[in-house]
Amino acid sequence: MGFFFMEKKYQIAIDGFSSCGKSTLAKALAKELRFLFVDSGAMYRAVALYCINHNVKIEDSDQLNSILLDINIQFKQEQDTLQIYLNEENVTEAIRDLKVASQVSEVAAISSVRKKLVAQQQKMAESNSLVMDGRDIGTVVFPNASIKFFITADPLIRAQRRYNELRAKGNPSIDFNLVVENLRHRDRIDSTRDDSPLRKADDAIEIDNSTLSEKEQLQVALTHLYNKFPELKN
Ligand code: CDP
Repeated sequence: MGFFFMEKKYQIAIDGFSSCGKSTLAKALAKELRFLFVDSGAMYRAVALYCINHNVKIEDSDQLNSILLDINIQFKQEQDTLQIYLNEENVTEAIRDLKVASQVSEVAAISSVRKKLVAQQQKMAESNSLVMDGRDIGTVVFPNASIKFFITADPLIRAQRRYNELRAKGNPSIDFNLVVENLRHRDRIDSTRDDSPLRKADDAIEIDNSTLSEKEQLQVALTHLYNKFPELKN
């Protein structure tokens, strides 16, 4: 029989609507705590990108199930940033395209896609303490997470943030109304789908960050976290 010591692992679950600052908070928390950061949305975006590039008809479940076997998604920490690879190709930039955003919620509503990605997400937590952001992290992926946050923000503020982000990333001619439309579309599909709809877990702490700076939202989350787990403070 092996003799081993299992260090306590923490899972910080962060859920919320599109563009509400989940990833920003998750990244900042992971950096502060030296935990692994996992952007689960990036995984769904990578599957959507694959479907777009390979002309996969997502309503054809046989085709979809067979391509899922060919999809390998990996995160790699490079310098200070998290890069995402789809079958050895770095797709970190490509998955942020509005074209991907316009398909991803349809892809993410498919149970076989969710099953594959959720299994991979749960596996990452076996060997790491982590901060994961998404839509179903506190409800489905880690129902027993150490702590759960549910982030909300005014829809127009969310759209403005995403618009600024896309412009800063080199899309000067992006149409604000298209961004608003895309967020509405995804919010609706994400919260009404049958499999793992977006909702606040009963035991999640809600943070409305409409008027909070990035630093302030981090402080709010850390205060909750350190109250619950003083051992993490130092
Ligand atoms: O644009 P934003 O950063 O808010 O979204 P994202 O986190 O990149 O997620 C993109 C899409 O993936 C969402 O609109 C959902 O349809 C889907 N998703 C999901 O279904 N479950 C998750 N845990 C994460 C994302």
